[in-house]
Amino acid sequence: MINVEFTLRKFEPRDLDIVMYINRTTLPENYTSRFFMEHHERFPEAFLVAEVEGNVVGYVMSRVELGLGCTVKGIIKKGHIVSIAVLPDYRRRGIGSKLLEQAMEALKDIYGCKEVYLEVRVSNNPAISLYEKYGFRKVKIIRGYYLDGEDAYIMARPLIFTAKPI
Ligand code: COA
Repeated sequence: MINVEFTLRKFEPRDLDIVMYINRTTLPENYTSRFFMEHHERFPEAFLVAEVEGNVVGYVMSRVELGLGCTVKGIIKKGHIVSIAVLPDYRRRGIGSKLLEQAMEALKDIYGCKEVYLEVRVSNNPAISLYEKYGFRKVKIIRGYYLDGEDAYIMARPLIFTAKPI
């Protein structure tokens, strides 16, 4: 499969099972159905799925928090990319990029966030490359952040001007 046509739309409750399946099979950080539904209820514009031929193959789930900025001064609204994943067969087709881009646009334009941040395993080179392509920088390292003891980078970027790659 070289080119794949995909579309993005907001998560709907009927997507819960497939999104939880994608999460369970691609990431060690798994959550309860309540956790997913709460994000959908509170931040519906920044919880998106990608579809190929009517099947969900990826998602991004985000939330909005108030806190001290890492890349912007002061107490600000920060978008938090909580989880993003694409099924292995559909990777390297631009789906992860589009999910990230559209979530950042919603965080900026709809929720008024001035910054976006996320945690990523220090060994997760594909994800780190994706985030760097979108202008995220490593701003902090949290030792032993994950349950298995791996460290996390906090990566962040301002959302003031654009959500496009910079
Ligand atoms: N190795 C190196 N760079 C990679 C990569 C890989 N295996 N996969 C993606 N990238 C980087 C590249 O810079 C790529 O741009 P390019 O294809 O022009 O070189 C860029 O990311 C965008 O790739 P894209 O096709 O949009 O991403 P994707 O649809 O493959 O999804 C992830 C990327 C990270 C979401 C996907 O690999 C995934 O689901 N991983 C498992 C879950 C996960 O780790 N989530 C992140 C947790 S923090």
